[in-house]
Amino acid sequence: MKRPLAMIVGTGHAVPKKILTNSDIAAMGIETTDEWIVERTGIRQRYVAGEGESLTSLSAEAARAAMKVAGVTAPELDIIVLGTASPDRLLPSTAVEVQAAIGATRAAAFDISAACSGWVYGMQIAEGLMALGGAETVLVLGAETLTRITNWKDRNTCVLFGDGAGATVVKRSTKGRGILSAYTRSDGTLADLLHRPAGGALRPVTPEVLADGSNCIAMAGREVFKNAVRSMADACDRALDGAKLAASDIDLLIPHQANIRIIEATAKHAGMPMEKVYVNVDRYGNTSAASIPIALDEALRAGRIKEGMTVMFVAFGAGFTWGSLVVRF
Ligand code: UT7
Repeated sequence: MKRPLAMIVGTGHAVPKKILTNSDIAAMGIETTDEWIVERTGIRQRYVAGEGESLTSLSAEAARAAMKVAGVTAPELDIIVLGTASPDRLLPSTAVEVQAAIGATRAAAFDISAACSGWVYGMQIAEGLMALGGAETVLVLGAETLTRITNWKDRNTCVLFGDGAGATVVKRSTKGRGILSAYTRSDGTLADLLHRPAGGALRPVTPEVLADGSNCIAMAGREVFKNAVRSMADACDRALDGAKLAASDIDLLIPHQANIRIIEATAKHAGMPMEKVYVNVDRYGNTSAASIPIALDEALRAGRIKEGMTVMFVAFGAGFTWGSLVVRF
């Protein structure tokens, strides 16, 4: 495959109406403080899906915004790839519900399960399907309603997550623009460090599961932190090598937004000053698969990315999964 083959022609994002601040969480009776959350994570608030909002509705809103920028109509979409860890239903995929909601009548639609790396994985799937020749216009979504699978009694996790959707329209490359390099890896031996112990087919939901919250996200935070720093560093190195570029060639780094300390460690390893790193974890919390496409859409709309600039994306999440992309805009 000769790169660049696939380029980003439109982005959009959507978030729920309700904002939950750190103080709001403390006021819910959870033993935490705004100071602890800000100091240990950089998070100040997150969006929480409410009545009438769903992964489908947020994804469809983000998709419409991205298609508008791209000048693409829904029936032109060949593929819809949706990365998520919090689908509306376990069967069918949320991607097909988004297809129906936006009227993408010709598309093949499917979800992928790569947790926080979902959008980076999805972009590579889009590029691969385009290389095979069967797809010209692909919608890649990263979207989550994580607050619905959060254990609101567990202060180790409930302060971290937020909801939202980010969408990207991908088309065939022109003028040397598009994905210059891509890298993905997984390590399933560490699956139990960040998971939902029950609620799947192996351990279905029972009254006991609901009572102990084991259908919700459980995480060994410190271990995840260490692996995130190590793997995101690896992913930055590999993406730069693949694109035959140095960190100084990168105009903006958009890392997964889980924790400001992980973002700072990643930037330091990559040798990128924080002025060239996009950060919005303070306003969104960790939105898993949605975090990078939301940040990308914000950065484009704010004029932080201009034509000709080179952007590096790096993600890490449950699985573990990790990966990176270097993209010329
Ligand atoms: O999306 C990709 C996957 N997720 C991540 O990348 C997240 C990775 N992990 C992290 O970001 C961090 O590990 C956390 C933010 C989750 C935790 O920060 P930490 O500095 O690693 O804290 P810790 O887990 O080592 O806990 C330190 C202390 C503990 O108390 P003791 O045992 O020292 O008395 C915790 O019980 O902080 C306590 N603690 C809290 N205190 C107030 C844990 N959560 C809270 C809380 N409020 N919400």
